[in-house]
Amino acid sequence: MNTTATPGPVPARPKLTVIGTGYLGATHAVAMASLGYDVLGVDVDQSKIDKLASGEVPFFEPGLPELLQEVMATGKLRFTTSFDEAAEFGDVHFICVGTPQLHGSHAANLEYVESAFTTLASKITTPALLVGKSTVPVGTAARLTDMVQMTSPNPDLVQLAWNPEFLREGYAVQDTLRPDRLVFGVQSEWAEEMLRAAFAPILEVGTPLVVADLRTAELVKVAANSFLATKISYINAMAEVCEATGADVNLLASALSYDDRIGGRFLKPGLGFGGGCLPKDIRAFAHRAEELGVGQAVAFLHEVDAINARRRMRTVDLVRELAGGSVKGKRIACLGAAFKPNSDDIRDAPALDVADMLRAESADVVVYDPEAMKNAAKAYPQLTYAETFSQAIKGAEVVVLLTEWDQFRNADPEMMGELVAHKAIVDGRHALDATAYRAAGWEYRALGRPADVKTVRLSEDAKDKVTV
Ligand code: UDX
Repeated sequence: MNTTATPGPVPARPKLTVIGTGYLGATHAVAMASLGYDVLGVDVDQSKIDKLASGEVPFFEPGLPELLQEVMATGKLRFTTSFDEAAEFGDVHFICVGTPQLHGSHAANLEYVESAFTTLASKITTPALLVGKSTVPVGTAARLTDMVQMTSPNPDLVQLAWNPEFLREGYAVQDTLRPDRLVFGVQSEWAEEMLRAAFAPILEVGTPLVVADLRTAELVKVAANSFLATKISYINAMAEVCEATGADVNLLASALSYDDRIGGRFLKPGLGFGGGCLPKDIRAFAHRAEELGVGQAVAFLHEVDAINARRRMRTVDLVRELAGGSVKGKRIACLGAAFKPNSDDIRDAPALDVADMLRAESADVVVYDPEAMKNAAKAYPQLTYAETFSQAIKGAEVVVLLTEWDQFRNADPEMMGELVAHKAIVDGRHALDATAYRAAGWEYRALGRPADVKTVRLSEDAKDKVTV
């Protein structure tokens, strides 16, 4: 493939396909259709496609069901399991399939990405740009380019580009429609023009664009997620030091956040990060760097991972302390299962890890989450689930907040105090008002804060500065 190759004219409004309809793909398909593009969503999972085609989102994502129904009514969005139909329909194909961690290794499993690219390439007979959005180890796009060229019956008609995606679950719609930047990894001017046409409404409102080579575009994603994970583990490392000294990590984070060079975003201490991206991305990045002979450059990511794992164990320690030294046979209410609020995603969820560690110590664990119970029960059938918040805390000897849903943040400590057996709470997310809990007679503990902290001396704006 050379940089002047032009497989065909650039349509003003390219027709788009989105291959893979998970959190990323489904949101991308719906958002692009809402911008006026004709979009075809494709997945090998018939039940997912049936749900989406009937206007139902197969996972919890605020705002997405409403937008899906809106665009379905316009006829701009359809769904299929047929790659033949996709190949015939699309000018630009976005590949959004998953790259989970391989079993028994830190490497990413690329079989779904490879299969999507080659299946599509084998069927394309008109000019088309295949765009990877999945998070992949650097160098994958170059390898896929060769695979696509070898598989395609018309190699001159097909090019490959990379367009990493930075959306956050829970904010997927707004992050897709109003991203803070776009990154195009391209190998030709034609590919850049095709992508500019595919993102025209987003670029027209002044969204910053970085046009790069494939390798840089692949790296941007893992570099961004590694930085975010490092920032979280940094403040959690400070929490460990605070615990050894009696200092308060909440106040420390606030004081740091006023330095614009540091900033308060992703400086929220607590139970640490989980989810389908941050943990597996830092591991896959470290693994890839080792393959490339530069493992030392990102060796700190192993420590970032280890700090994160220690927060989970420390949360269990705090629960044990509040339970009087042992949780055996004690009823422990675990509030939250999702890896973060406003999501039903339980992949690598710190909350469920903690609940299961407590269960392993023979605690009588009850879990409640407003949205993630179905997924949690499938992955952790050994845990007991309550149907309501009140049921979960009824008779509890210790309550532990693991995912900071608004329902838990806004709960009344007086009301909760009437339901529990003992007023003891571990705030795993620094999300509760310690003063209010203490005033209502609770023993309140949080990671990185002294047990006897009475008041929080923060000005009002400081309270909002440290955020997830
Ligand atoms: C992340 C990236 O933010 C996003 O840009 C990328 O596209 C995908 O991965 P997501 O997995 O949706 O998004 O979650 P995110 O909001 O980043 O939170 C990750 C985890 O870190 C959560 O478990 C959250 O509870 C935790 N977190 C976040 C903290 O513990 N402290 C913080 O200050 C911020």
